[in-house]
Amino acid sequence: MPFSVADIRKDFPIFERTIRDGKRLVYLDSGATSQKPWTVINAESDFYSKHNAAVHRGAHQLAEEATDAYEGARAKVATFIGAQVDEVIFTKSATESLNLVAYAMGNAHQGNRFALTSADEIVVSEMEHHANLVPWQELAKRTGAKLSWFTVTEEGRLDLSGVNEVITERTKVVAITHQSNVLGTINPLDAITKRAHEVGAVVVLDACQSVPHMPVDVSELNVDFLAFSGHKAVGPTGVGILWGRSELLAQLPPFLTGGSMVSSVTMTDATWAPAPQKFEAGVPNMAQAVGLGAACDYLSTVGMQNIRNHEISLTDYALDKLSAISGIKIIGPTTNVSRGSTISFTLKEIHPHDLGQYLDSQGIAVRTGHHCAWPLAKSMKVQSTTRASFYLYNDERDVDALFEAVVNAQKYFGRF
Ligand code: ALA
Repeated sequence: MPFSVADIRKDFPIFERTIRDGKRLVYLDSGATSQKPWTVINAESDFYSKHNAAVHRGAHQLAEEATDAYEGARAKVATFIGAQVDEVIFTKSATESLNLVAYAMGNAHQGNRFALTSADEIVVSEMEHHANLVPWQELAKRTGAKLSWFTVTEEGRLDLSGVNEVITERTKVVAITHQSNVLGTINPLDAITKRAHEVGAVVVLDACQSVPHMPVDVSELNVDFLAFSGHKAVGPTGVGILWGRSELLAQLPPFLTGGSMVSSVTMTDATWAPAPQKFEAGVPNMAQAVGLGAACDYLSTVGMQNIRNHEISLTDYALDKLSAISGIKIIGPTTNVSRGSTISFTLKEIHPHDLGQYLDSQGIAVRTGHHCAWPLAKSMKVQSTTRASFYLYNDERDVDALFEAVVNAQKYFGRF
């Protein structure tokens, strides 16, 4: 079907409302969370109103229906990212997915390929948001492994000039973001995955900002684990995905233990069910998983390449317009090359929080601050920025509204 923002907006009930005394809602905060279409809201509500039961447990019809819906959602997610079904693990969030890998590695005993010691190294980058940085810092502290990282250039690209020195023979894991939540930068992965695999390290990809915005196929990426959240991909909150290669999931110890993840239990010991159950202890977030299945259907119907193309042209338009404003400084790539549609900026001496409040008064929702990526802000030599993040339901009108409001903000704050 032809891509039409006007039609897409009709699918999202939130755009029926107005904001701040009748103003049109200009939602430019999809990097933090996306809005939800009716199909997702209805899928979640239908699960509760028609099929609710604990999956994988009951011996009754509702339990059977709930299990079918939950496993059906897993199959939809798998198709959406080009994975095998049993490689898709439901978590509560991308943060939990990343912690799962880090904690599970920490649970590995000597002899297991994931066991880390003080002789090993973990590689991250300055571009990570906290969810893909702090768990690795903690793992390094628990195991004695050394944490190293790629730095970021002034333009906001990963500095890969020393890839062979950053990823060494001692590196066991490389955890890297696919697309920066602050700068919009899309990272080239080939040099990283090639070097990582050369030294026997696994690559964990934080795909929170890429999976919702572009076609992502795990069979083509050459990474070993991938994490994303449902709520940034028009899905519900409370559900995230961890994908891992099946041979690695078979060797990775569990993170959380408890019901439904075991194969057998005695009073002193337990053995594990195969993945994905090994990593899904307890009654999972079933309705949310089903909602995420509906989100994958929705995005697939619109077409991920259509969404990517739309965001590329919107980013062209936004970069052109915004960079024409005097006093604005875009933090991150200023050309529309290997970047997504997230645009962070500073505006002279106006504090981003003040600007954010002013934009809000005009009906424009943006995020301000360090965007949970404190070291990145430091490396880009800013304390905080204003961030506009676009998605499939945004159009040039939204960019125009942002442009006008930023220009007016200069006049407004210039009075003081
Ligand atoms: N969810 C965070 C963001 O807004 C990391 O980018």
